[in-house]
Amino acid sequence: MKDKVYIFDTTLRDGEQSPGASMGINEKLKVALQLEKLGVDIIEAGFAVSSPVQFDAIQLIAQEVKNAVIASLARAVEKDIDAAAQALKYAQRKRIHTFIATSPIHREFKLKKTKEEILKQAVYAIQYAKQYTDDVEFSAEDATRTELDYLVEVVTAAIDAGAKTINIPDTVGYTVPSEFTKIIRTLKEKVPNINQAVLSVHCHNDLGLAVANSLAAIEAGARQVEVSVNGIGERAGNAAMEEIVMALELRKDIFGVETGIVTQEIYKTSRLIVSVTGIQVQPNKAIVGKNAFSHEAGIHQDGVLKERRTYEIMKPEQIGRTHSEIVLGRHSGKHGLQARLKELGYTIQGDDFEKVFQKFTEVADKKKAVYDDELIAIVSECLSID
Ligand code: KIV
Ligand code: ZN
Repeated sequence: MKDKVYIFDTTLRDGEQSPGASMGINEKLKVALQLEKLGVDIIEAGFAVSSPVQFDAIQLIAQEVKNAVIASLARAVEKDIDAAAQALKYAQRKRIHTFIATSPIHREFKLKKTKEEILKQAVYAIQYAKQYTDDVEFSAEDATRTELDYLVEVVTAAIDAGAKTINIPDTVGYTVPSEFTKIIRTLKEKVPNINQAVLSVHCHNDLGLAVANSLAAIEAGARQVEVSVNGIGERAGNAAMEEIVMALELRKDIFGVETGIVTQEIYKTSRLIVSVTGIQVQPNKAIVGKNAFSHEAGIHQDGVLKERRTYEIMKPEQIGRTHSEIVLGRHSGKHGLQARLKELGYTIQGDDFEKVFQKFTEVADKKKAVYDDELIAIVSECLSID
């Protein structure tokens, strides 16, 4: 039996904090129901105290979603925790996710509190949240820029206070994978009660390292990962769910862990997020980008037509896409063209094919791609077919 990595999806909370990504209540419910179908373990539905819409959306999701744990974020203060608990009242399975920043820069400039005061506040908040649910998660905001010995102290106290999940956020996406490995290893070695909680990571993508950092943390022993669909989130976003899940899925030889994700639902979920937020996915985005399964170069097309695994590490069907694509353009060769012509119902050989190929290369050289209707026109022109 492989270890399980819990997928904590924060598309509806951190993801919604992306500029321009705010969603209406019914859209949030639609996303939550799809996330449940996708098989995420925990849905962070919002930040209850932050607005009436957030509160109502969490409440509605808590009523409608039956299998996933529903979480609300709360600062380490009573009024936030009360609001989270109220919003989650009807959830079958609920989690209060409380946080306070621990790094020197946040202590000095944002909170204006000492290390001792912050530790005390964290412990109090966890104990306070426990009156509502046993499932309390604690995040040490900006953990990765916190002195490691102080982080060990805070995490130990948080677990003693009853936190069942300890989350280590790379709040500003500043950390590199080797540092993340060190942080997780140190916590595992130095926190005496670490086995009483699930160790989690929450990585931002300011240096484009959110996925790499999350994977380094999992390799070092983290067993919950906080992600968002398409990687949306504050500034450069959060770790992309689809990239982490498929890396864990395809590289079981390295990670040796499982998730409960139904990978065939990934693409549908990605498209739903695009449609409700209006935030497009870049064409070359791993897994869900338009070009992720497209082949243009002649050598690649030839390889894929002979055996898909030459240039595809996963099947498009694995993530719920219907097919990979041979894009005909100026880099394409005869094999790609011949295969597409066959799909269009033409069997053209010998000199006739050479004529069509010649014309195709002339047209392709002037354009980004040659589409089926243009190919049909080329064939008609070269072979005088009406
Ligand atoms: O990035 C962050 O630190 C967060 C916490 C609230 C978990 O989003
Ligand atoms: Zn975050």
